[in-house]
Amino acid sequence: MIGIDVISVSRIENMINKFGDKALKRYLNDNEIKLIKSPHTAAGFWAAKEAFSKALGTGIGEECSFLDIEIIKDKKGKPCFSSSTLEKFNLKQADVSISHDGGFAIAAVIIMK
Ligand SMILES: CC(C)(COP(=O)(O)OP(=O)(O)OC[C@H]1O[C@@H](n2cnc3c(N)ncnc32)[C@H](O)[C@@H]1OP(=O)(O)O)[C@@H](O)C(=O)NCCC(=O)NCCS
Repeated sequence: MIGIDVISVSRIENMINKFGDKALKRYLNDNEIKLIKSPHTAAGFWAAKEAFSKALGTGIGEECSFLDIEIIKDKKGKPCFSSSTLEKFNLKQADVSISHDGGFAIAAVIIMK
């Protein structure tokens, strides 16, 4: 199953300017926050989580919250979903690709149940 999401980086920047750290904590855990080096990355992670929820078919809500999904990075910097995320949703595989340009971040996710 596939999911995709796009978000303007300024939306995340505005959230951070308004709510500071709380903005990131709303949708990222502490380990994920350590990986955030720019608003572009923060927007990409938001898009990745929304795309994951769309691949699942639930959207973000009770069945799948932002904090139920954990993004990690491998040695080369590729974003991936943690094994606990796969276990939580009983998935065999979940892959994500993130890109940003022109003030937007986009993510595509493929999952296999
Ligand atoms: C599904 C979700 C991720 C939609 O995201 P969105 O950014 O509002 O909207 P997008 O434009 O990215 O996507 C909308 C499209 O997603 C698709 N979609 C809707 N529900 C879906 C679902 N359960 N599974 C897969 N795809 C879904 C639809 O095609 C929809 O477009 P359409 O209604 O014109 O057909 C939704 O769960 C969501 O908005 N969560 C946000 C939660 C939140 O806390 N937001 C805070 C805002 S400050």
